[in-house]
Amino acid sequence: MTVTVGVPLGARAYKIRIGAGLLARAGAEIAPLLRRKRVAVVTEERVAALHGPALEAGLAAAGIAAAVLALPPGEATKGWAALERTVEWLIAERVARDDLVVAFGGGVIGDLAGFAAAVLRRGVGFVQVPTTLLAQVDSSVGGKTGINSVQGKNLVGAFHQPRLVLADTGLLDTLPERDFLAGYGEVVKYGLLGDAGFFAWLEENAPALRAGDAAARIHAVRRSCEMKAGIVVRDETEQGERALLNLGHTFGHALEAATGYSDRLLHGEGVAIGCQLAFDLSARLGLCSQEAPSRVAAHLAAMGMKRDLADIPGALPDADALVALMGQDKKVKDGQLAFILARDVGEAFVARDVDLAVVRDLLAEALARRVAAVPTRR
Ligand SMILES: NC(=O)c1ccc[n+]([C@@H]2O[C@H](COP(=O)([O-])OP(=O)(O)OC[C@H]3O[C@@H](n4cnc5c(N)ncnc54)[C@H](O)[C@@H]3O)[C@@H](O)[C@H]2O)c1
Repeated sequence: MTVTVGVPLGARAYKIRIGAGLLARAGAEIAPLLRRKRVAVVTEERVAALHGPALEAGLAAAGIAAAVLALPPGEATKGWAALERTVEWLIAERVARDDLVVAFGGGVIGDLAGFAAAVLRRGVGFVQVPTTLLAQVDSSVGGKTGINSVQGKNLVGAFHQPRLVLADTGLLDTLPERDFLAGYGEVVKYGLLGDAGFFAWLEENAPALRAGDAAARIHAVRRSCEMKAGIVVRDETEQGERALLNLGHTFGHALEAATGYSDRLLHGEGVAIGCQLAFDLSARLGLCSQEAPSRVAAHLAAMGMKRDLADIPGALPDADALVALMGQDKKVKDGQLAFILARDVGEAFVARDVDLAVVRDLLAEALARRVAAVPTRR
């Protein structure tokens, strides 16, 4: 079964195709977009080893030849060195303006290859073939591309919409569970920010999703993409509503920075903890009932996900330092930090006048729980 979600952005409209086994049809899906039957595939070594032959066979079935660049896996690949290598390789491969670059991997490859396509010859088209849950539900849709600067994450980039997204949910079978759950943090986010019905569906169906149920996975990816596409279409360059997609991210980015963007905390794990903190903060500010954050906590716990600062291994800075890290977020406007808060599950909104003393106290209490959680030595 393949389902389609449209992203109606006028001349830049595209489709997101979602289904198990889509790689076998990659050539047939991409061929109508090509002038000549040749693509440049940017991927990474782990994905290339697991699924490269299937993609190449799917392309070859429609007579499409593929030149392949496989970069090292990991967040470090989303930087200047890999960008230079990718762009120079695309030029050496004589990729022209009417050719297509195929980004085949998780969010790291999608962001990097999309940005390389955006700057190559002032803009070459690209196709996203996302291979992680996070990339299928979030990073491959919406056109945000870019790399990290030594001074911070995602500080260099461009809006460049893909021409097509092919999300083969069968690829998730090989994803390590930790990466699957990190991606699931973004799925939960959609329910929490704007669709209480979807959150209720997740409460019921997430165990099946986690166990690999094909139909449940397609539904979750589809609903997430529908929500993201709807928001992107209404606010492509994040002048307003698109900020809602950052639910959990103001806290999450500070925690990612505090843990050095390392394996101690994956992006989606930071988002899940951030969503919990955003709901805790909303309750503390009297914006929602205590029931809402309790429901979030119960669901994250049922899924075995990180949801508290106590779940992050190693040392963390104190509450003041964490608040300061939040202040470095891209979403600071006129010196004011934006928080995505909620009136209930599925009812998020942007708040710019949050009393940082309340945020500080919330974080100080969460940090105190970490100390309490450390086993005492005898
Ligand atoms: N552009 C956006 O809108 C947007 C949104 C959210 C996140 N992001 C970015 O996405 C990045 C994180 O993406 P990610 O979580 O996909 O990370 P990732 O690309 O590093 O992939 C995570 C891990 O999964 C492995 N992997 C990928 N596909 C696999 C598969 N099918 N089977 C087995 N292993 C597989 C990778 O080798 C890697 O180790 C971050 O850089 C983040 O900033 C971008």
